[in-house]
Amino acid sequence: MEFAMQPKTILVTGGAGFIGSNFVLQWLANETAGVVNLDKLTYAGNPANLAAVSSDPRYKFVQGDICDRELVAELLIRQRPRAIVHFAAETHVDRSIHGPDDFVRTNINGTFSLLEEARSYWTGLEGGEKDAFRFLHVSTDEVYGSLGTTDPAFSESTRYSPNSPYSASKAASDHLVRAYFHTYGLPVLTTNCSNNYGPFQFPEKLIPLVILHAITGKPIPVYGDGQNVRDWLFVADHCEAIRTVLARGRIGETYNIGGRNEVKNLDVVNTICAALDQLRPRDPVVPHSKLVKFVQDRPGHDRRYAMNTDKIESELGWRPQETFETGIRKTVEWYLDNDPWIQGVISGSYRQWMATQYSL
Ligand code: NAD
Ligand code: TYD
Repeated sequence: MEFAMQPKTILVTGGAGFIGSNFVLQWLANETAGVVNLDKLTYAGNPANLAAVSSDPRYKFVQGDICDRELVAELLIRQRPRAIVHFAAETHVDRSIHGPDDFVRTNINGTFSLLEEARSYWTGLEGGEKDAFRFLHVSTDEVYGSLGTTDPAFSESTRYSPNSPYSASKAASDHLVRAYFHTYGLPVLTTNCSNNYGPFQFPEKLIPLVILHAITGKPIPVYGDGQNVRDWLFVADHCEAIRTVLARGRIGETYNIGGRNEVKNLDVVNTICAALDQLRPRDPVVPHSKLVKFVQDRPGHDRRYAMNTDKIESELGWRPQETFETGIRKTVEWYLDNDPWIQGVISGSYRQWMATQYSL
């Protein structure tokens, strides 16, 4: 008698972080296969993000480090995933300036460990299982460096030119992933995405930081002249894009992902403040934009990022669903509705970071 094949599980790294947890929630809501989430739970990892699926029998959490090769090897053998989706990383540029060590360790050495163990596991697979296996590496637009005002957007063939310890460590990991395809034939996919925003983002990053400071009447720190430009993508759109590339991307290829939403930092801040003026007219300081405080610029601050997303749109048919206006509204409302989550992450280590970076 023949049994229908059970859909095989995927291994996600860094699934307790911002994008990883959004991805796990979206995956379990839309796919039948299960997820094993390997996460070290650094300051940026939060199991509360995944409370909604903690009792789903298809979800399994493993606390551990991607640099721990024995653990990774054992997980691969025991779980036999059909794919690895690799989010785990140190991700905050300002932290990489204060202390780059963890960025080199996790982003470069950790990706190397995963690649080595993935190669060993994949080499031992056979037939359809081997053909179906994928290693999807989640990366950033920051590897391409900084654009001038009139430069064309980054494409997949733009020369790498990383400027911060964070982007340099991500660029190094992208190169390793590429080399494992060319040298060993490991079936890899790489995605380079622009700035994400949405639920569960740790409030060290611009958008959640602005929301939190605005509603509590704290100064909103804007680096330099506030004219730096980022391309913003709502996190659910990024997760859709990753699922699309995993399902249909060509192995060995890289795909740029972005929102075609270039916005100056000061305009991001003012958009959030205007939304809060409507939603929270009784906050300590209104209009909220009175809280804007120009502070010293970030060293080596990249001026502009922009993504050309023609390849993923024409080849795989992916397109973002949210505009900046709809995505920001959803995000602001999510933070206003989730005070217990915010209180949970504003821990001792968060306060320590605020004191180091902003003297707050
Ligand atoms: P995040 O900082 O919110 O989360 C990172 C997660 O990785 C945390 O859960 C943390 O505990 C885990 N982690 C860190 N070191 C680990 C280790 N050694 N072993 C196991 N787990 C470890 O990050 P994010 O913003 O969700 O970003 C996820 C990925 O997406 C990263 O690779 C990042 O470079 C990439 N990316 C992020 C953005 C963005 O705007 N946030 C944009 C493009 C690409
Ligand atoms: P961030 O969210 O740290 O993302 P990234 O540096 O990866 O783009 O910052 C987004 C932009 O906002 C960036 O140009 C730096 C700027 N910024 C501020 O002006 N003030 C802040 O307090 C923070 C955290 C960022």
